[in-house]
Amino acid sequence: MSDLTIQIGDLNLRNPIMPASGTFSEELADVFDLGILGAHVTKTITQQIRGGNPTPRVCEVQGGMLNSIGIPSKGVAYFKNNVIPFYSRFDTPLIVSISANTTEGFVELCKDVSVEGVAAIEVNISCPNIEDNGKAFAMRPSSTHEVLKQLRASTSLPLWAKLTPNTGETIEVAEAASEAGADALVVSNTMLSMAVDVHSRKPKLGNLMGGLSGPALKPIALRMAYQCARAVKIPVIGCGGISNLDDVLEFLIAGASAVQVGTATFLNPTIMPSIISGLQAYLRDHQIDCVSELVGSILDTDLSENLSIMEVAP
Ligand SMILES: Cc1cc2nc3c(=O)[nH]c(=O)nc-3n(C[C@H](O)[C@H](O)[C@H](O)COP(=O)(O)O)c2cc1C
Repeated sequence: MSDLTIQIGDLNLRNPIMPASGTFSEELADVFDLGILGAHVTKTITQQIRGGNPTPRVCEVQGGMLNSIGIPSKGVAYFKNNVIPFYSRFDTPLIVSISANTTEGFVELCKDVSVEGVAAIEVNISCPNIEDNGKAFAMRPSSTHEVLKQLRASTSLPLWAKLTPNTGETIEVAEAASEAGADALVVSNTMLSMAVDVHSRKPKLGNLMGGLSGPALKPIALRMAYQCARAVKIPVIGCGGISNLDDVLEFLIAGASAVQVGTATFLNPTIMPSIISGLQAYLRDHQIDCVSELVGSILDTDLSENLSIMEVAP
């Protein structure tokens, strides 16, 4: 058997496969043994109970889906009383995803969830920052740095910063998160998109716009994961359109230390267990002792020093 373990900062994961926030919940325990996963990642929670966005909240598009769920949350008390006890039966790190619309709100929630049973905090900074004209925290290096710096000072738990593809400053945002004390980057959340019903001429989502996920997102998230892994020393966790073993391998080879599987679970609830056994078989067939050997093993195209990626693109 090859070694599937992966180190994310101080956390030792039994394998690099974990669910993406919001696409996984306790009910999946009826479908497969959740104890085989590398980590458990919760749906993003907020401090207070919150309703979600207007319906319809999801629609299918070519190559994926759009969602504008809007982070409905049962609040932090429900999380502590129900979610933590549920996951405590597994010997698997529990990662809680948190969100707030202000830095102060993030800090308060971060302190509140820094309790026994939580192994790390995933900071969903892809949400609007009301102190910055509603732009998501992760769209700018300055707001990313500020919120993570404050969070770093408010907890001793590992912090994973979840980035957004909706920025032209991926590398700068990754560097800002790392410099402010993030222990890992999750790359990435969904891409802002829309779809129109041509018969009713209405937007297909009740909230007009939503986030694109699924296979159509994969090349973008893969490019970002590659760029981030090059730019920072902390581990990168790839996320976006991962639907099969080859997708996982692409992310690992491009530099991600682990991956999150989201939309693919809706189509096939046992996709994660299948990927884990496929990964073991791949390593055996390629005589690779440890999965970590794959991480960042990409053989780069030799770009001459002064040629930027933009210049070589058609
Ligand atoms: C229905 C749905 C709900 C989601 N909810 C959250 C969430 O609460 N917090 C979060 O950080 N990301 C959320 N996401 C984004 C996913 O975690 C993931 O970043 C994104 O879907 C890309 O991965 P995928 O293409 O594998 O789905 C959600 C995605 C979907 C499709």
